[in-house]
Amino acid sequence: MNEELTKHLNKTLVIRGREIRNRLFLAPMSGLGHIAFRELLESYGGYGLLFSEMCSARAVPQENRHVSPVFSWRDQELDRLVCQLFGSDPDTMARAAMRVEQEGFYGVDLNFGCSVAAICKKNCGAALLRDPKLAAGIVSAVREKISIPLFVKFRTGWKDDPEYAADLSKRFEDAGADALTFHPRVAPDRRSRPPKWEYIGRVKDRVSIPVFGNGNIFDEEDCRMMLEKTNCDGIAIGRIAIARPWIFSMWTEGFSPDQNIFKDVALQMSLLLEKYYNPERAVKRFKKFAIYFAANFRFGHSIYSKLCKGETMPEIRDNIQAVFQTVPEVVERPNMNLFTN
Ligand SMILES: Cc1cc2nc3c(=O)[nH]c(=O)nc-3n(C[C@H](O)[C@H](O)[C@H](O)COP(=O)(O)O)c2cc1C
Repeated sequence: MNEELTKHLNKTLVIRGREIRNRLFLAPMSGLGHIAFRELLESYGGYGLLFSEMCSARAVPQENRHVSPVFSWRDQELDRLVCQLFGSDPDTMARAAMRVEQEGFYGVDLNFGCSVAAICKKNCGAALLRDPKLAAGIVSAVREKISIPLFVKFRTGWKDDPEYAADLSKRFEDAGADALTFHPRVAPDRRSRPPKWEYIGRVKDRVSIPVFGNGNIFDEEDCRMMLEKTNCDGIAIGRIAIARPWIFSMWTEGFSPDQNIFKDVALQMSLLLEKYYNPERAVKRFKKFAIYFAANFRFGHSIYSKLCKGETMPEIRDNIQAVFQTVPEVVERPNMNLFTN
C-alpha cells in the first residue's frame, strides 16, 4: 500500500457545500454500476462517490424506482450517490434533474461522453460535444432548477484537440457546473487506444472547479501518476472497480484481500443480482460483470466462458464453485482483451 497516495486520496473535498470523504469515485457505467453492484461495493467501502448508470432524462420524471432497472437505489446510499442523466433537450434535462434532487441524491451528472451510436444518433452523450452552445445550455438549464451539486462528464471531443476540451470545460464552468469528470479520449475511440492523461492537466488549468481524471487507472501507480501529472482533484475509476470491487478500500483504507475474495465477490454478485432483478436480467447482468471480473486472471477468456455457461443463476453459482475450487492464476494488471469490450 502506498501511504502517500492513501493520504492524498483521503483528503476531503467540498462541492457546493457538501463534503465528500475521499477523492476516489466509481465512474458511471451502464449495465454495470447498478443497484446490486453498488450494494456489493458497500460491503467493502472506501469510495467517495458512486455514479449511477445513465438514466434517460425523458423517462426519469415519471419513472418508478421499484420497476426501473437503472433509476433505482437504496435510500441509505443516496448521500453518496450521483445520478447520471442523458438527453439532448435543456428543459427535459432540467425536469429530470429536479426529480433527482427531490429524491435526495447527492448530485446530478450530465452525460456528455457516451459515444455509443444509439445514444449519439439522438444527439445525446458525446454528440453534444459537437455543439458546445447546446451543451452549455443544458448545463445552465439544469443549474437554474437544482441546488445540489452538478457534475459534467465529458470526453476530448470528436477531434484530438486538448484546446477544444479545455474550452468546453470553461463553458461548463461558466454555465454553472460544480465539478467535471474528464475522460481524455476522442469520442469515436471506444477505449482501444490509451487516454491522453496530459489533456486532463490542460482542463484542470482552465477551470477553478474540481476536475476528476478518468481513464485506464488499473493500479496504485497509475493513480499516483495521474494525480501527479495532471494535478487533478480526484479520480473516477470504471472497469477496474468492476473487476475488483474491493479496490477502493485497498487504496483508501489499506484493506488487504485474502485469496477467497474472487469466489466471495462472484457469489455475492450473483445473489445481489437475484435480489433486485428478474432471473433473465439478473443472468444477463452477471454475464456483463463476468467479462471484467474474468480480466483478473491469466486465462481470463477461459474463466469467462466457464463462469457464463448456462442460463440460470443456480447454474452460474455451480460454475463459480467449480472455477474457484482452486484459485486461478491472478494477473497484476487486467487482461486488456477483456477490458476493451
Ligand atoms: C460497459 C461500460 C459502460 C459505460 N457506460 C457509461 C455511461 O453510462 N456513462 C458514462 O458517462 N460513461 C460510461 N462509461 C465510461 C466510463 O465511465 C469510463 O469513462 C471509461 O470506462 C474509462 O474509465 P476506466 O478506464 O476506469 O474504465 C462506460 C464504460 C463501460 C466499460
